[in-house]
Amino acid sequence: MPENSKKFDNVKGVILAGGNATRLRPLTWVTNKHLLPIYDRPMIYYPLQSLQKAGVRDALISTNPHHAGDFINLLSTGEEFDMRLQYTIQKEPKGMAQVVGMAESFAEGSSVLVLAGDNLFDFDLKPAIERFKAQGSGARIFAMHHDHPEHYGVVEIAEDGKVISVEEKPKQPKSNYIVVGIYLFDSDAFDFVKNLKPSDRGELEITSGLIECYRQRGDLYCEVLDKDDWWIDAGTSYEELFAANEAARKRVLGQNKK
Ligand code: G1P
Repeated sequence: MPENSKKFDNVKGVILAGGNATRLRPLTWVTNKHLLPIYDRPMIYYPLQSLQKAGVRDALISTNPHHAGDFINLLSTGEEFDMRLQYTIQKEPKGMAQVVGMAESFAEGSSVLVLAGDNLFDFDLKPAIERFKAQGSGARIFAMHHDHPEHYGVVEIAEDGKVISVEEKPKQPKSNYIVVGIYLFDSDAFDFVKNLKPSDRGELEITSGLIECYRQRGDLYCEVLDKDDWWIDAGTSYEELFAANEAARKRVLGQNKK
């Protein structure tokens, strides 16, 4: 079998941990956002633990040029997580879809579970991965109900879970379901990315670019998170980072009491 022939059922992880996090300066002048503490552990531990829980052992961490060495010092080969880690560098923040494209040789034809490194959650992705495998092709995104969807990607979902529309930060959202930073793509993603054009902000977009390609092809489905699922975007403001620390502290202390 040629090295990069499609291996749909095999899922490898990709963690997006790049960017300059300008909104969190001065905290991010000399370090990367994903290395900042979330109560008792660096932020990057969360996506790694999510992959571990999901049974995904191979992961590629994409980071920025200045901090790649710090990630390697912290995580090394990934043995501590019972994982096999590889690293790549996105030289400039040119979009999440660009990183997906950079994962082509790492994936070797496998599907990829892509996690935004600043989205913290603790639910198990295994059942969703099983449903993705049952799909046979395409992509699967994740959404949750939100009172202010206009600040996020917004998805309209049919009863069978198929995505009707997906838009990035629309002024007039078509639903109250926001796209969270968890994505499953088959290996066709790498070809889709090659044909994407940079958006007005000069990036290869994940939502309005790559995900939209799957929607147009007709095999894009969406998982809706439970009301009780814990999910938090820790990375876009001091308030969110602070709230993430408080929430993580409560969860850790709660678990220690059990
Ligand atoms: C990104 C995605 C957006 C998604 C959000 C979740 O936005 O583009 O679709 O809803 O993550 O955290 P960003 O946080 O980069 O503005």
